[in-house]
Amino acid sequence: MKIDFSGQVAIVTGAGGGIGRAVSLALSGLGARVLLVDLSQDSGLKTEAHIHQSGGEAVFVKADVSQAQDVENYVKVALDTWGRIDIFMNNAAWQGEINSIVNYPVAMFDKVMGINVRGVFLGLKYVLPTMIKQGKGAVINTASLGAYIGTRNLGPYTASKHAVLGLTKTAALEVARKGIRVNAVCPGPVDTEMLRLIESDQATAQGQASAASLREQRAASIPDGRYADPEEVANLMIYLASDFASHITGQGLQINGGSHA
Ligand SMILES: NC(=O)c1ccc[n+]([C@@H]2O[C@H](COP(=O)([O-])OP(=O)(O)OC[C@H]3O[C@@H](n4cnc5c(N)ncnc54)[C@H](O)[C@@H]3O)[C@@H](O)[C@H]2O)c1
Repeated sequence: MKIDFSGQVAIVTGAGGGIGRAVSLALSGLGARVLLVDLSQDSGLKTEAHIHQSGGEAVFVKADVSQAQDVENYVKVALDTWGRIDIFMNNAAWQGEINSIVNYPVAMFDKVMGINVRGVFLGLKYVLPTMIKQGKGAVINTASLGAYIGTRNLGPYTASKHAVLGLTKTAALEVARKGIRVNAVCPGPVDTEMLRLIESDQATAQGQASAASLREQRAASIPDGRYADPEEVANLMIYLASDFASHITGQGLQINGGSHA
């Protein structure tokens, strides 16, 4: 068996970001047509250009995943363009601010939850009906190592990733007899823009000399001594979307270089 997504249609949210771009390129390289969703038009169009340059088929749609109308619209564009949805990478998220629960602005708590939890919920709500009609589909939600453990000053993000795991398990149970699998990937630190922003805010909050020294310390604390590359997380997402994972559903799969082993 080899992985071949020819004829299949994938949706990737957060497709302009580190992991989203890596998985979009991987899906396209394996033959899928890819609907690229992001709030940032510039970065989403960059991913689209990469795929077009390599001869793949992709369409970018600007959307805020926390808004029901935007989610309904990106699903509609996928169906109007290609008529089906086989793979859904429900991946967009935002880290919010680095701050203690006591000092955390309430409006920012709501914003983090809106993007990371309501966004994932809305994606499931509007994509699953098409997969149910098809009797086929694979959904991969992006959770985090933060779905299992706490991190000081990252309360709302941590809570949101715990919630993504809850939605993953529930959705998997609801569609398990309909030919659809729903799983989550749970990465430790991955070398992307999101992590660089978190590190720089954490360095300031903890009075560290610099984000670079915090990064060095954190990488050294990981058993294999380094952060993941986005492509390594994409590989796991591709595996979960493929028939190699045909009996895996309702799971959070950790990818973290051995952290918390
Ligand atoms: N980088 C890490 O260390 C790490 C670790 C564990 C989990 N994750 C998760 O991986 C996923 C991808 O993150 P990344 O590291 O590639 O970060 P990233 O910041 O590079 O990418 C996130 C993308 O999501 C988009 N986005 C943000 N809010 C949006 C919204 N409301 N609507 C649509 N798009 C929106 C951003 O524009 C960006 O392109 C996220 O779910 C993140 O929580 C990342």
